[in-house]
Amino acid sequence: MARTALVTGGTRGIGRAISQRLKEEGFEVAANFGGNEEKARQFTEETGIRSYKFNVGDFEAVGEGLKQIESEIGPVDVVVNNAGITRDAPFHKMGPEQWQEVIDVDLSSAFNVTRQVWEGMRERGFGRVVNISSINGQKGQFGQVNYSAAKAGLIGFTKALAQEGAKKGITVNCVAPGYVDTDMVAAVPENVLEGIISSIPVGRLGKAEEIADAVAWLSGERCGFVTGATIPVNGAQYIAG
Ligand code: CAA
Repeated sequence: MARTALVTGGTRGIGRAISQRLKEEGFEVAANFGGNEEKARQFTEETGIRSYKFNVGDFEAVGEGLKQIESEIGPVDVVVNNAGITRDAPFHKMGPEQWQEVIDVDLSSAFNVTRQVWEGMRERGFGRVVNISSINGQKGQFGQVNYSAAKAGLIGFTKALAQEGAKKGITVNCVAPGYVDTDMVAAVPENVLEGIISSIPVGRLGKAEEIADAVAWLSGERCGFVTGATIPVNGAQYIAG
């Protein structure tokens, strides 16, 4: 029987490519989204992948969403914690809302979702958790104290939880994308983005499909000995030691 994969923020950008790639790999995919109903409807029409609206920053809402997914598709075997937002501002201009929104959606979401599928994974003796961190969680980014903190937090989350899942057949890993050609990166001011691209040795932005390839590998049956890892996919823009 096909395994069920949940991709948060799975109807647009990197998440969309991950949802499609996991479907090609034979998973039954549930794609979560937070707000953009029109894009989600289009996504479901074009891909045949079901989409589920709930706020990953809200523990109760995630519980409701998971109930629906589990009754319509089945228990979740693979979670890709991909949903993320930016609220960029230099720290001296950053308000508590910009801080909290990013922490809720980019970091607490991983707790809210993973915690509520974890016991099922433990009981079944199998699970794959893939957290989408960022190059900016590894190196820090001017204007992103909130985002860099959340994305670095996902790396710590991964390292700790990997140790807890290990004996139960559950792997927990991170992918840390660099700058990828999505709406999120397109929102960076043009002159700033030019500077960023010139600092990428591969000489271009990444493609969402290139992130999806790494996620598909980490989600597979054969990847049981890779756990607690952070895989950079960043065109050599930052090479962590
Ligand atoms: N390093 C050093 N100084 C910088 C800087 C940097 N990277 N970026 C801006 N500054 C400086 C400016 O030169 C300016 O200095 P002066 O006041 O001395 O002239 C000062 O900071 C203020 O700059 P702005 O007037 O432009 O300030 P702002 O409030 O309008 O915006 C900003 C600042 C929000 C940081 C803006 O520059 C920005 O959006 N930068 C891009 C941040 C970024 O890379 N975000 C990534 C989004 S994509 C993503 O997050 C996906 C992923 O995972 C990779």
